[in-house]
Amino acid sequence: PVLVVDFGAQYAQLIARRVREAKVYSEIVPHTMPVEAMMAKKPAAIILSGGPSSVYAPGAPSVDPALFDQGVPVMGICYGFQAMAAALGGRVAHTGVREYGGTAVDVCEAGVLLAGSAQSQMTWMSHGDAVHDAPDGFVVLATSPGSPVAAFEDADRKLFGMQWHPEVKHSQGGQAALENFLYHGAGLAPTWTADNVVAAQMELIREQVGSDQVICGLSGGVDSSVAAALVQRAIGDQLTCVFVDHGLLREGEAEQVEVDFVQSTGVHLKVIDAREQFLNALAGVTDPETKRKIIGREFIRAFEGAAREIVADAGDKDGDVKWLVQGTLYPDVVESGGGEGAANIKSHHNVGGLPDDLQFQLIEPLRTLFKDEVRAVGVELGVPDEIVWRQPFPGPGLGIRIIGEVTAERLAILRQADAIAREELTRAGLDREIWQCPVVLLADVRSVGVQGDGRTYGHPIVLRPVSSEDAMTADWSRLPYDVLSVISTRITNEVRDVNRVVLDVTSKPPGTIEWE
Ligand code: XMP
Repeated sequence: PVLVVDFGAQYAQLIARRVREAKVYSEIVPHTMPVEAMMAKKPAAIILSGGPSSVYAPGAPSVDPALFDQGVPVMGICYGFQAMAAALGGRVAHTGVREYGGTAVDVCEAGVLLAGSAQSQMTWMSHGDAVHDAPDGFVVLATSPGSPVAAFEDADRKLFGMQWHPEVKHSQGGQAALENFLYHGAGLAPTWTADNVVAAQMELIREQVGSDQVICGLSGGVDSSVAAALVQRAIGDQLTCVFVDHGLLREGEAEQVEVDFVQSTGVHLKVIDAREQFLNALAGVTDPETKRKIIGREFIRAFEGAAREIVADAGDKDGDVKWLVQGTLYPDVVESGGGEGAANIKSHHNVGGLPDDLQFQLIEPLRTLFKDEVRAVGVELGVPDEIVWRQPFPGPGLGIRIIGEVTAERLAILRQADAIAREELTRAGLDREIWQCPVVLLADVRSVGVQGDGRTYGHPIVLRPVSSEDAMTADWSRLPYDVLSVISTRITNEVRDVNRVVLDVTSKPPGTIEWE
């Protein structure tokens, strides 16, 4: 792999993504990892990321100079560039000029790193210190007002560095510089593609499980579907998927999993009809957290019941399903400590998470992948577009989109309104533009309306379309008025007991995406 050494800023994940966009596999490692341990991973190249500190600040992370004597190509970025310069005998100092945001850089010598780049380019910087003198043997490639040495290289030793952030889209030629490093500096080929990922994972899964039985909780979402499809491709009938229909699904959802997914993958599916169980458990409950806890608990019960049945069905084995497939993604792994150590099941990953005493060993075929890469693998595996490009849908489903008590009647109202909104957004071609559009029923609120010749006293439906990159923050989507108009007209005309449609124009923060 290409190792991205994380110096503690937000950029390491972004760098890892850009390297993968160049079709080269990358992994993030902490800067505290000793050089020996890095070498044990047999890195094809190493990238030192940006970081928050000054190289001269007490306790600032440094780079072991031994790193540069391993014959492995290295590229330093921002803080990593300065730490590299300092470690190799260059001079880093305060210039008095801080450069933040868009900064013009003059290229004086293209070298390998900046080959093909413009003479002068806008780049994205964020630093207070600067490299004043390059280490011996290095050629200065670029300068900026605040950085006498803004980029350098020693192509013979395969060492490269730049002050600006090539991984940030605002940096002109950023991706090209990264690719120059990877392809020409380090001599790597762009071979990390979805079909190679699939092939490698299939081999790994087969090795792992041998002839054991495997189960997978399927939600119909992208991650669990692609994980299941991959495992199915590897071991076929040894896998059983469990889909819990909790009655809080949207229209057509259960059918989509049963028909589309099973048909495209041939997966062995066990559907658990737990609709009544969930409704009974939710009766009379209005508090959002209580709802979530109940839904989580009931989900676990249903899943455990299914697992026991599968164990019983498997019969001839030593009575055990040993393996559980989880759709854990790379950001989850990185955020829970870089994946060195025991795997832990994230509680928000499915509804409420699975209990620790389930005692399965985990298969996590997506744990090295980012979301967009999971989609690419899904496409490669022939998972239908409807699933691969699905917008996020919360595990607790419509249960947290009915404000008030959840009842069968209210679910029917919301399901119909939601189906109309989704149909019209799809018709308008907006599906990939918006992140998701929760449709919410204010079940305890009534307002006066006039429909036909009569007065009505019905419920409002809230549309909550949002744009987001990662759901951590979001903005309300500026949907075209004519699309909103069609949705509003259709919902008030077609859905019984709804006489008003309102638009949520709150960003996150302060509002969350879901209403509960
Ligand atoms: P919030 O409401 O916290 O939602 O802004 C952020 C994103 O997470 C989804 N979400 C969930 N997904 N289980 C899930 O699998 C949950 O309990 C859950 N709650 C919220 C939400 O749809 C949005 O995409």
